[in-house]
Amino acid sequence: MATLGFVGLGTMGSRMAQRLLDAGHSVVGYNRTREKAKPLVDRGMRLADSPRAVSTAAEVVFSMVTDPEALRAVADGADGLVAGLRPGAVYVDMSTVSPSATREVGAAVEARGAAMLDAPVSGSIATLEQGKLAIMVGGDPGVLERVRPYLAAIGPTITYVGPLGLAVTMKIAINLSLGVQMLAFSEAVLLAEKGGVPRERAVEALLKSVAGLTVLREGPPSVRGRLLRRGERGRDRAVAFQRGRGAAAPGPSRRDRSAWGRSSGRRESRSRAVGR
Ligand SMILES: NC(=O)c1ccc[n+]([C@@H]2O[C@H](COP(=O)([O-])OP(=O)(O)OC[C@H]3O[C@@H](n4cnc5c(N)ncnc54)[C@H](OP(=O)(O)O)[C@@H]3O)[C@@H](O)[C@H]2O)c1
Repeated sequence: MATLGFVGLGTMGSRMAQRLLDAGHSVVGYNRTREKAKPLVDRGMRLADSPRAVSTAAEVVFSMVTDPEALRAVADGADGLVAGLRPGAVYVDMSTVSPSATREVGAAVEARGAAMLDAPVSGSIATLEQGKLAIMVGGDPGVLERVRPYLAAIGPTITYVGPLGLAVTMKIAINLSLGVQMLAFSEAVLLAEKGGVPRERAVEALLKSVAGLTVLREGPPSVRGRLLRRGERGRDRAVAFQRGRGAAAPGPSRRDRSAWGRSSGRRESRSRAVGR
C-alpha cells in the first residue's frame, strides 16, 4: 500500500488524515503546531519534522491549510513540500485558496516532475465525520484516477471540474452562492421579525419550508447560531466577492451586503469586512 502524506492537521486536515488511517493507509503527517498532531500519532500516524520530510516519504501528499499564504508557507522554500516531491508523485491541495496561488504552486510541482491537483471540499466537520464530504477536483484527469481511492476514503462525492485551479474557482463560486442564499434567508427573517414573528420562530419556520437551506438544516448548530448572531463567516465571503470582482461577476452590491449585515444582527455595515 502507498504511503500517504498529510500537511496541515487542523480542524479539517486532522479528520481527513484520520479517515485515511481508518481506511488502512500508512500516513506520515506534519503540522506547524506539533502538539495538535498527537492524537493522530497515538492512532498510528508517523509525524514528520517538516512539509519536505512528508513529501520525501510519500507517493501522494495532501494538504489542508487556511489560505493562500499558508499554502505558500507549506509548499515553498527549502523545507517546503515541493522540494521533497519525487518525480511521478502526486500533490493534492484540498484547502480553499485562490486559483492563482494554486497554479503558481502547480508550476513548481510540475518542474519537479510531479503532478498537482486542487481538491477543495464542500461540507463541514459533521459531513466530513459522517463520510459525506463533497470534493471538487482540478488538474489532469488521469492523475485524479490514480488518487481516486484515497480521495474516496476522505469523501464519497468526487466531481471533476477541469484543469488545475478550476476546482478552487468552483469552490469560491459555491461560497458566493451560499453567501447570496444566506442574504436572502436573512432578509426573510428580517421581514418576519419586523412583522412581529420572534427571530428564532422565523428561522425555524424557514428551515422547515422549501426555502430552508441545506447548510443550515444539516450543518452544525453553530452555523445556525452564527446566522442568528451575525451571519456566515466573513472570510469566505470576502474571497468570493474579491474573486467575483476579478471575474466580472461582482456578487451582491455594497447596499445588499449592508442589508445582510443588519438583518443578521450586526449593528454596523458588513461592507468593510467583505471588502477586506
Ligand atoms: N472548517 C470547515 O468547516 C471547512 C469546510 C470546508 C472547507 N474548509 C477549508 O479548509 C481549510 C482548512 O480549514 P480548517 O477549518 O481545518 O482550519 P484550521 O483548523 O484553522 O487549520 C488550518 C491549518 O493550516 C495550518 N496553517 C495555517 N497557517 C499556516 C502557516 N503559515 N504555515 C503552516 N501551516 C499553517 C494550521 O497549522 P497550525 O495548527 O499550526 O495553526 C492548521 O493545520 C480552509 O481553507 C477552509 O476554508 C473548512
